[in-house]
Amino acid sequence: MKLPVSGRAAAAGAASIVMLLTIGSTAGAAPAPGPAPLAAAPDIPVANVKAHLAQLQSIATANGGNRAHGRAGYKASLDYAKAKLDAAGYTTVVQQFTSSGRTGYNLIADWPGGDTGRVVMAGSHLDSVTAGAGINDNGSGSAAVLELALTVARTGYQPTKHLRFAWWGAEELGMVGSRYYVNNLSSTNRARISGYLNFDMIGSPNPGYFVYDDDPAIEKTFKDYFAGIGVPTEIETEGDGRSDHAPFKNAGVPVGGLFSGADYTKTAAQAAKWGGTAGRAFDRCYHSSCDTSANIDDTALNRNADAAAYAVWTLSS
Ligand code: TRP
Ligand code: ZN
Repeated sequence: MKLPVSGRAAAAGAASIVMLLTIGSTAGAAPAPGPAPLAAAPDIPVANVKAHLAQLQSIATANGGNRAHGRAGYKASLDYAKAKLDAAGYTTVVQQFTSSGRTGYNLIADWPGGDTGRVVMAGSHLDSVTAGAGINDNGSGSAAVLELALTVARTGYQPTKHLRFAWWGAEELGMVGSRYYVNNLSSTNRARISGYLNFDMIGSPNPGYFVYDDDPAIEKTFKDYFAGIGVPTEIETEGDGRSDHAPFKNAGVPVGGLFSGADYTKTAAQAAKWGGTAGRAFDRCYHSSCDTSANIDDTALNRNADAAAYAVWTLSS
């Protein structure tokens, strides 16, 4: 229903009266059964995440088929995200570095406001391998973090803590961009980061639901979200040191994250609880030319993007 401003206020007033009556009539009754409601975090529209993925695919197609470090498709991917963030009111910085004789870039976007002494970061690697467009690895995390940042702006969220989003370059060369960022933080600024959340491969076509087990509080936050939607999770054990959370963890920053699986094979037990195909890789197109727009499970992408939003809201409020 669409109401003029005065109509909205009247409707809100009517709603509070109804609420008061309801509370009065149930005084003394037992609390409603069921799990405690989750903190108010917005739904991340998966259609918007998919629209970003379509753009990343187009960028790869127009630039020799990939978005790899030092190639035109990488910089075009960064420019795409930066333009959206700048338009939404973010303060963005492009951090340049050199690796294997080519120039690389990190994109850092700060949401103005909040306690800058307590920073919650969420990030993803934006580069692909040279073999293909890298839509699951890691367009998926990059698009979800982008839409999460845009949702912060759209909802006018004013967190208690300060929010910072990051898109890393040259992860595929050994987490080069994220390590460069961490190594170039002053010890004061490093100590201000209360948590780093990593999203690398979150739309795998034969998905699993893996939660990093590095920090208990962050891990619990993600697990609470999945418990609330009735999706079982497993601990992520394969990737210790395999993505951009590693430099943060090595510097003493609490880290966490999500992962839907790469080249490992889904077991029969995993297929029984998650669906999909046992005996097949979580992502058969991992680091291959077939990691295109077709290489995404929309349900996994949707759940993981919403879990990311829940964690960012919960940990920053
Ligand atoms: N970081 C790897 C890559 O980009 C992907 C990966 C494999 C991964 N295993 C992982 C990421 C476990 C996170 C956790 O190629
Ligand atoms: Zn990769």
